[in-house]
Amino acid sequence: MSLTDGEPFEQGAIKCEKPCPTATPNPKARGCDKMDGEVMSMRSVGIVGLGSYVPEKVLTNFDLEKIVETSDEWITTRTGIKERRVAAAHETTTTMAIEAAKSALDDAGVSANEVDLIIVATVTPDYFFPSTACQVQHAIGAPNAAAFDLLVGCTGFVYGVVTACQFVQTGAANCALVIGSETLTRIVDWTDRKTCVLFGDGAGAAVVAPVPEGRGLLAFDLGSDGSGGPLLKAEALQSCCEMPTSVGLNGRPTIYMNGNEVFKFAVRVMADSTIAALQKAGLTVDQVDLIVPHQANIRIIDAAARRLGVPMDKIFVNLDRYGNTSAASIPIAMDEAKRSGRMKEGDIVVATSFGAGLSWATFVMRM
Ligand code: UT7
Repeated sequence: MSLTDGEPFEQGAIKCEKPCPTATPNPKARGCDKMDGEVMSMRSVGIVGLGSYVPEKVLTNFDLEKIVETSDEWITTRTGIKERRVAAAHETTTTMAIEAAKSALDDAGVSANEVDLIIVATVTPDYFFPSTACQVQHAIGAPNAAAFDLLVGCTGFVYGVVTACQFVQTGAANCALVIGSETLTRIVDWTDRKTCVLFGDGAGAAVVAPVPEGRGLLAFDLGSDGSGGPLLKAEALQSCCEMPTSVGLNGRPTIYMNGNEVFKFAVRVMADSTIAALQKAGLTVDQVDLIVPHQANIRIIDAAARRLGVPMDKIFVNLDRYGNTSAASIPIAMDEAKRSGRMKEGDIVVATSFGAGLSWATFVMRM
């Protein structure tokens, strides 16, 4: 229906039966006071279920000593990582995403039939197309869901949750699945000790849906700085055909990273973005119950915590067991935090991440 002065307005799930005073497409700006159900009240939205999946196969630092010139001592002291998971031949980004999704739906007590949006954050899809999200949609049996992938690197899950919240807040969707899934061990250069010791495989998922008022998403901070793009990259196949600069084993593109520069960036943005999001929520760091940071390096987390003035016991860390799983790191950590009792109903939780792009992303949520 076209937006005509003086006529009722309906667009997607947004409906207003009051004659419109102007042709402005934003019903709130038009001063409409009668909207369709909860849609225009911008209902509260949050994470109502979490799930994760990690491969069984463990690769320890001692195993890595046999692959590159490194040591358990170097990896532990410089990163905090002790071991990571590696996908078996039958496991892919899609299969892990499916398992994490099923587990999150189960946790939320929601059937796949109710899901109307699926977002998969990944930099390691099985295919450029079809999207991982569409494959998940088919596998879990979610006939009512729109589905798309999101490529933002390690910040992908936080970007995905914030995106899903916008859909559900406005009523454009009612129940969204946001998944972070990665098989990074398939794009690392196993001859490059500076990167191959850092990454691991896994998937995590969250169900985003309406929650009681006062709960759910309180604020977020998303950002990007493309000038830092060359610091952390993996070339797409078509670009590396011309002039390969980071092509490793089997002629496939691999991860290139300037670790020192990314480290400095990470410490700065994780602290600054957390403060920015908390300010928007009208909260101080003292009021936060738990911070779930991107699990890349314990020294980054430690330095960001000191910058924020937050004790480490308020920060959830599991990178010692999984390494850096990029977009999967925060949902895996949140799932573990919930299942272990570290993250409880009513807690104010901050999830904060940095990564390729360069990009950063933080949300503040009352669980
Ligand atoms: O999700 C975002 C992804 N990125 C990150 O989070 C990474 C951010 N950066 C980092 O975490 C750290 O910079 C690294 C862990 C990558 C590196 O730690 P670092 O303390 O910055 O080490 P460095 O790169 O300055 O290297 C120090 C030394 C070098 O030797 P020389 O030149 O001093 O003789 C490296 O060659 O350590 C050497 N080195 C290693 N030695 C043993 C680098 N990697 C290894 C290794 N084992 N795996």
